[in-house]
Amino acid sequence: MEIKMVTQNRNKLREIEKLLKPYGFSVVGVYVPTDEIQSNSLKEIVLRKAESIINMVKPIYLVEDSGLFINALNQFPGPYSNFIFETIGNKGILKLMRNVKDRTAIFRTVIAAVILPNVIKLFEGEVKGSISKEIRGEKGFGFDPIFIPDGWDKTLGEIGVEEKNIISHRGNAFRKFAEYMSSYMKIAEE
Ligand code: IMP
Repeated sequence: MEIKMVTQNRNKLREIEKLLKPYGFSVVGVYVPTDEIQSNSLKEIVLRKAESIINMVKPIYLVEDSGLFINALNQFPGPYSNFIFETIGNKGILKLMRNVKDRTAIFRTVIAAVILPNVIKLFEGEVKGSISKEIRGEKGFGFDPIFIPDGWDKTLGEIGVEEKNIISHRGNAFRKFAEYMSSYMKIAEE
């Protein structure tokens, strides 16, 4: 079964293709501009994005939004992660974290899955970790080179896609979606 993923981010798409393949879902990237609201809630943002293109894309399609939540910075950049990455980047985050002892952080993903025009389900995933002291690794994208998942001594930028998918926020959210979708299809067949 083919599932559309609304994104322009090739790195995300690569991760999602690998995540959904074992469940028999193939992923096609599509890009349609969506409404972007300012909110402290990833759920609200992603839901609005998904609803704003309901007349333009035929379900099943997925919209995803992720953010890095740093505890010592009161959950900043959170839903503003994209803007912050584009402006101050990883170097800027490390500057903000200079001399900060509590380096704990969480990566979160929320997916809005539009299954039918009137059936939208949300799936969440997270991974706990900490902010590294320097930028390390070239394998990932975004904040990967400054995020060390709990239980690892490498950043996500030093870990390949396969291993990242096992532990990541995105991996956890997409596995929930895939399991839901597989049982939804079973019920629909019966
Ligand atoms: P988006 O709005 O979901 O695309 O992501 C917000 C920001 O977080 C962007 O700057 C992304 O580069 C970054 N980001 C999203 N997912 C990841 C990830 O898995 N690893 C590292 N950075 C990410």
